[in-house]
Amino acid sequence: MSNRKILVTSALPYANGPIHLGHLVEYIQTDIWVRFQKQRGHNCYYVCADDTHGTPIMLRADKEGITPEQLIADVEKQHRADFQEFGVAFDQYHSTHSPENKEYSALIYKRLRDGGHISQRSITQAYDPVKNMFLPDRFIKGECPKCGAADQYGDSCEACGATYSPTELKNAVSAISGERPIEKDSEHYFFELGHFAEMLRDWTTAGHLQPEVSNKMAEWLENGLQQWDISRDAPYFGFEIPDAPGKYFYVWLDAPIGYMASFKHFCDRQGLDFDSFWQKDSTAELYHFIGKDIIYFHALFWPAMLNGANFRTPSAIFAHGFLTVNGEKMSKSRGTFIKARTYLDHLNPEYLRYYFAAKLSAGVDDIDLNFDDFSQRVNSDLVGKVVNIASRCSGFIAKRFDGVLSAECSEPALFQQFVDANSTIADLYENREFGKAMREIMALADKANQYIDEKKPWLIAKEEGQDAELHAVCSMGVNLFRMLVAYLRPVIPTLAANAESFLNIPAQSWPSNAQPLLGHKINSFIPLMTRVEPDKIAAIVEASKENLEKTPSVTAKPVKQAAAVKTNPEQVAKAISEPIAEAIEIEDFAKIDLRIGRIVKAESVEGAEKLLQLTVDLGSETRNIFAGIKSAYAPEDLEGKLTVVVANLKPRKMRFGTSEGMVLAAGPGGKDIWVLSPDQGAQPGMRVK
Ligand code: MSP
Ligand code: ZN
Repeated sequence: MSNRKILVTSALPYANGPIHLGHLVEYIQTDIWVRFQKQRGHNCYYVCADDTHGTPIMLRADKEGITPEQLIADVEKQHRADFQEFGVAFDQYHSTHSPENKEYSALIYKRLRDGGHISQRSITQAYDPVKNMFLPDRFIKGECPKCGAADQYGDSCEACGATYSPTELKNAVSAISGERPIEKDSEHYFFELGHFAEMLRDWTTAGHLQPEVSNKMAEWLENGLQQWDISRDAPYFGFEIPDAPGKYFYVWLDAPIGYMASFKHFCDRQGLDFDSFWQKDSTAELYHFIGKDIIYFHALFWPAMLNGANFRTPSAIFAHGFLTVNGEKMSKSRGTFIKARTYLDHLNPEYLRYYFAAKLSAGVDDIDLNFDDFSQRVNSDLVGKVVNIASRCSGFIAKRFDGVLSAECSEPALFQQFVDANSTIADLYENREFGKAMREIMALADKANQYIDEKKPWLIAKEEGQDAELHAVCSMGVNLFRMLVAYLRPVIPTLAANAESFLNIPAQSWPSNAQPLLGHKINSFIPLMTRVEPDKIAAIVEASKENLEKTPSVTAKPVKQAAAVKTNPEQVAKAISEPIAEAIEIEDFAKIDLRIGRIVKAESVEGAEKLLQLTVDLGSETRNIFAGIKSAYAPEDLEGKLTVVVANLKPRKMRFGTSEGMVLAAGPGGKDIWVLSPDQGAQPGMRVK
């Protein structure tokens, strides 16, 4: 078997949200495949990165009062931890906001431009006149032009399924400012996908795609290839286009280039030859694992871009289906939108790795996580069949034979059957038929258990003079167990490593010509896996429901659940019925300079019962403000919050220092105080009028 050079990627997860179980279908699928290749002795590298650019990430950072760089650094930390705990072992995890990605994005763009594949023209788009930015379809909301449903996005209606352009929406507003969008022209850059029609017709039918994907591509190609808009106007978090100030690469332009960037970073660290993987005539294999929702980008744009920029194209794209939970789309309200972290808080990650493996095939069908099926499979296969063999046999080996296995193999034919199965199982892994591979392995586990059941070591152990037989049977059981572990290694690496340390053997390579362990000393048995506890699953579902209410986003500051806190109904009623004050002229109001402020710091004041000391960012300056809101807010609830400040109030000397303004709040006092905050999108320093 000669060594293959293989580069593998998973799609780069967006840096604006946490990893959830749907994502994990892909990362676990890819990781299993990569571990299998490595176990076979191939030079296989697995790279990935966070996909960090684009409008949603920019706006979210904005909302949280941090820079996009801070946001993506926070999220990357969490993504890395989630992957690591699920055993997803990248050789390199990187970021699309990296110098390597900037360099390769510019390089590819320039090559496409110089090859005549980039054009330029002005287009008209919805523009938010308050936020001063063009609005992606997803950030325009209004009434569906077909069915009239309110609060629908600019591209499609969730109520009736209609698709349309944002200009067709009725009473459209910007989801960012709530303002009516205006139409505005701007110069955009386009990738001439049509130049690659011939190339793509060949490429998409040359065995690089799954048959069902290839068919879909034929349909798309038949409908004609549109120019692809690859530029976005400032403000945009991304890379500026070379020679086009104020224009940025659309996130999907630099995202797949992130695969190269991550690998480049790896090569530089490891002294590997990047070009030998990416140059036009490369003999290395290149595979992208992706979800079926992003096939268009990977099977059309990406090969065309690579081809136009004189790089090699992928050996294959492996698309998978979507995860459903208990037969339905993951749902936040049902508690089935489960974050990787929530799962990790309750259950062993290898349960899920095994379950996904058991459900995965080479196709693009959706896969369902059914919790009853999940418990039943894990309990009966891994705990009941695999681990059980070791626990049944190892006790006798330890107690009666000093932990040393028999010097002879009593059932060479049976052992050989287990070895011979290796090529079938390898083919199944290689072809991503993991479900079938698991069935083969479990059929072997059944055989091993049958053998033990027939021999009944627990009876032999009680008979006089049957030591040799007992030794032979239990040693055989341990040897068969060891073969099962070798085959399951790509799927459940932690269990495999623990089993190998119990067996006192090094990490097993693919057992193409394994020999039984004879006269070998093993260590005492350690429990390898326990049964799935049903109450843990219930806890995950419960926690996923809670997550929705309590933590809407990864790094958002907790928001005071103000509406729920009404401690003194009489006082509140009185506050509501307070008569409206005497009329004033607009000039009177204009004297008050109200500004949006961000509370950057909030602290208790020693000796002051009611006061909090706030540091408030007003855009161009920072103020120290004392506010009598301690009875209603914990300091940490305020930090990061936007509010409204009377900015031209004369500074007032107080016992604890000078207050340089006033924060606006409503309510009678005590716990019933509500600090004002503007709608999302408002910026510190903006005047309120
Ligand atoms: N950032 C893009 C990919 C850029 S690749 C150059 C993206 N990110 S994502 O976070 O939305 O999704 C990452 C991967 O997870 C995609 O392949 C996507 O198909 C997959 N999945 C996301 N949700 C999923 C399910 N519910 N089920 C299965 N896979 C899912 O797309
Ligand atoms: Zn509709």
